[in-house]
Amino acid sequence: MSTEQKSPKPASARKRFSIIDKHRIIETNATLLLIFSFLVVTIGGLVQITPLFYLENTIEKVEGMRPYTPLELTGREIYVREGCYTCHSQMIRPMRDEVERYGHYSLAAESMYDHPFQWGSKRTGPDLARVGGRYSDEWHLDHLRDPQSVVPESIMPKYAFLERRMIEPTYIVDLLKAQRAVGVPYTDEMIEHAAADFMAQADPDSDYGGLQERYPNTQVRNFDGAPGVSEMDAMIAYLQMLGTLVDFSTFTPDASR
Ligand code: HEC
Repeated sequence: MSTEQKSPKPASARKRFSIIDKHRIIETNATLLLIFSFLVVTIGGLVQITPLFYLENTIEKVEGMRPYTPLELTGREIYVREGCYTCHSQMIRPMRDEVERYGHYSLAAESMYDHPFQWGSKRTGPDLARVGGRYSDEWHLDHLRDPQSVVPESIMPKYAFLERRMIEPTYIVDLLKAQRAVGVPYTDEMIEHAAADFMAQADPDSDYGGLQERYPNTQVRNFDGAPGVSEMDAMIAYLQMLGTLVDFSTFTPDASR
């Protein structure tokens, strides 16, 4: 095409444009463009995907992460049931404003036992990935009962009914087994003691030594301050655990990855 339109430019200018002229061949030929695009995308894709086949694990191991206790796991189930994730994320991005507000950015390992994960995609309320230990149990109790009593401008719904719904560990073994089936490393011992561990965590007078051995850094309290185990106990146990398992005063990112 361009051969018969050659303009009488000096030799140096012709040379300078020759690469563009070559590119024009691709740009004006749809089939050729398609073939080259396909090649470029294929190579790019291989460069990204192939290394993953040779990595044993894409999640950096961090100390402190453990499967959730039976009570925390139950609280998490209620969190999912109530759709808390529609207003709250659980993933702190590595940007300065987020880290200053919420704390250390979230690590992949911190949600490795979440099935399904609770990263969320909408923040009507704040991120909850590190809410554990930020407030007292009483604060959570007041806030979940009636958020506006604590934060007058809050649009969060009331969850006072959680307090009135008493729960028993009837299905806890099935729940742990289901989590194990999708990869959470619950041991036979954990499953065997699931019902007892469930009750023990909400009762500071119980014999909870075994629970804390099986699940290090477990907080044992009467979370809602009322007798018996309620959905509120499970929910507060879950919230108070969030973000507290990894000790970030000793954590150093693995630079080899
Ligand atoms: C309609 C959206 C909405 C839903 C659903 C919702 N929240 Fe919230 N949440 C908010 C808003 C807005 C705030 C900030 C104001 C406040 O503290 O109440 C908030 C604040 C919070 C806080 C305090 C966080 C902090 O760092 O100050 C916690 C904890 C919390 N919510 C837990 C829950 C739980 C648990 C559920 C589910 C049972 C839930 N929320 C459901 C909107 C929501």
